[in-house]
Amino acid sequence: MTSILQCPVCRLTLQRTTAGYQCAAKHNFDAARQGYVNLVLAHKKHSKEPGDDPEMIQSRRRFLNLGYYDQVSDRLNETVCAALPAMGCSSGSSVLDAGCGEGFYLQRLKSALAYGREAHSPILFHGVDVSKFAVRQATHRDRGMDWFVASINDLPFIDSSLDIVLNIFSPANIAEFARILKPSGSLVFVSPGPRHLYGLREVIYPVTREHEEPTILKKAEELFALSSVDRITYQLELNSNQVIMDLLAMTPYFWNINRETKVKVAALDHLALDVDVEIRVFNKKVVKL
Ligand SMILES: C[S@@+](CC[C@H](N)C(=O)[O-])C[C@H]1O[C@@H](n2cnc3c(N)ncnc32)[C@H](O)[C@@H]1O
Ligand SMILES: [Zn+2]
Repeated sequence: MTSILQCPVCRLTLQRTTAGYQCAAKHNFDAARQGYVNLVLAHKKHSKEPGDDPEMIQSRRRFLNLGYYDQVSDRLNETVCAALPAMGCSSGSSVLDAGCGEGFYLQRLKSALAYGREAHSPILFHGVDVSKFAVRQATHRDRGMDWFVASINDLPFIDSSLDIVLNIFSPANIAEFARILKPSGSLVFVSPGPRHLYGLREVIYPVTREHEEPTILKKAEELFALSSVDRITYQLELNSNQVIMDLLAMTPYFWNINRETKVKVAALDHLALDVDVEIRVFNKKVVKL
């Protein structure tokens, strides 16, 4: 299969080598010991260690491993399964999880798609996150996928090369997603629904408001046509302080709340809350020149 990777320095195609990747202009990117490849250029980093830190990643990993979001992941897998055959990907397809974190959703998607897929139509799975700690953890979930440290604002893929881009609770760059998707490709966008984490938010904020629609949706309408919206809602009962603290640490609230509020959450050993998640599928608009 021809490479769909693009050199972050000169935009030529990256080819696999024994050590990692190289472009025709001889820019080299060596694979780390764990198997991932760092494609973030030092001068493009906005901080020393961009993205989620090791504590957030370990918290998310512990929480997700307990199965609390399996229903979200299962529904996402059904959505992708439905979208793939419609694309007629008989010669193989490529899926990217942009902002993949520690790889929970991509690994479960790969397992789900492994069943019922014909041998001659393999799927290539790629995970990208700007946090090298997240990507390092992702390699532990599955070393058989391509994991990259890279930003969603400069994705290392050539134009029109991917069938599916997943964007799950992560920053999005709609123009970049449209660039790398094939004309028949789809963006699967997963975001918090109005009542997501209600219960936790009631403890944290004096006045709790429902989440509004993500602002990015307006931008998406310019380049994509909305194909479907699905909403998953259920209740969670958390009965351990460790799990409650892990949930807090994997959300942006962790950084926004003061010490006093953190102490309040740290005193809880029971919490009932809502999971409310929306999955939108967008088809790339074909722009006629
Ligand atoms: C809330 S986490 C979600 C991770 C994963 N999708 C999940 O749901 O488990 C957001 C992720 O976006 C990553 N991130 C933040 N800015 C990014 C960027 N510019 N490019 C790629 N990833 C980014 C963070 O490192 C973090 O792993
Ligand atoms: Zn190059």
